[in-house]
Amino acid sequence: MSNYFSDVACLPDLGLGLGLRSQHFNHIIEHEPDVDWFEIISENFMDSGGRPKYMLERIAEQYPIVMHGVSMSIGSSNPLDFSYLKKLKKLANEIKPAWVSDHLCWTGVLGMNTHDLLPVPFTEESLKHISDRLNLVQEYLERPLIIENPSSYLTFAHSTLQEWEFLVELVKNTGCGLLLDVNNVYVSAFNHGFDSKRYIDYIPAESVVQMHIAGHQHCGNHIIDTHDREVDQNVWDLFSYAWKKMGDKSLLLEWDGNIPPFEEYHAELKKAEQYMSTFNNNGEELLVSLDKTVDSSYNSIDFMSNKVSKEVLFEADKKEKSWN
Ligand SMILES: [Fe+2]
Repeated sequence: MSNYFSDVACLPDLGLGLGLRSQHFNHIIEHEPDVDWFEIISENFMDSGGRPKYMLERIAEQYPIVMHGVSMSIGSSNPLDFSYLKKLKKLANEIKPAWVSDHLCWTGVLGMNTHDLLPVPFTEESLKHISDRLNLVQEYLERPLIIENPSSYLTFAHSTLQEWEFLVELVKNTGCGLLLDVNNVYVSAFNHGFDSKRYIDYIPAESVVQMHIAGHQHCGNHIIDTHDREVDQNVWDLFSYAWKKMGDKSLLLEWDGNIPPFEEYHAELKKAEQYMSTFNNNGEELLVSLDKTVDSSYNSIDFMSNKVSKEVLFEADKKEKSWN
């Protein structure tokens, strides 16, 4: 059984990255902009060859690439989609990304894909269900998966854990890494009335591989995670707080609607540098050691145990073989 905690610990800090969007392909090839890395939406390249794949391969020769998925549906009660995973693994073997990520969510049932990142109940039952599935996925992909906290607009009355507690338990059970989307924390905190800083305080820095920031739409009594505008000042402030807690992590600015020219997108990303100080106003270094960041109840040794049963793996192996 692989030890994914040690794999996650070895993942690099890539610096400041942007989402790779087709309207920027030519600009990137021609100008080789000073961007540290690019994140692709995995599904955009899994089924298509042709020009998009060719441009991705050219850009991947110049920049580190991270694969970010939106359709794994790790929280669904559907069986794992091994035809999807097979294509995901094939793309990863071709592009050789620094890592592969997806969301803590489900996207559909009964073969239907809603193309929405739907929230999961935070219960012991769903934790075991998702942990088992995540272990299977990691074994199949032969790499750790980096799981992102989604934004959400409803919660389940029967949840017994907080979202941040659920994520930490998921890391303990599977050795996965976390993609901390600071905008999503802010959006969900506003929509559900929890303390965004308490959320960030609870997440162990060593489990975080990457962060996201993005723009959102404030609708008065709720916020929608639109990714179609500049980052809100409140999110920058929360990012600054998270950066002091987490230390240097790969950072990516998401922008998926009303996508601006490349220079404008890049300029918004560069704003992050002014929020990356790890010193307080008295000049004292705030970059905290792991001992200070880890919750007292959190034991990294727990990462070493991988709880998926051999029987479940055997079943997955049979499925993979039958679908090959
Ligand atoms: Fe995100």
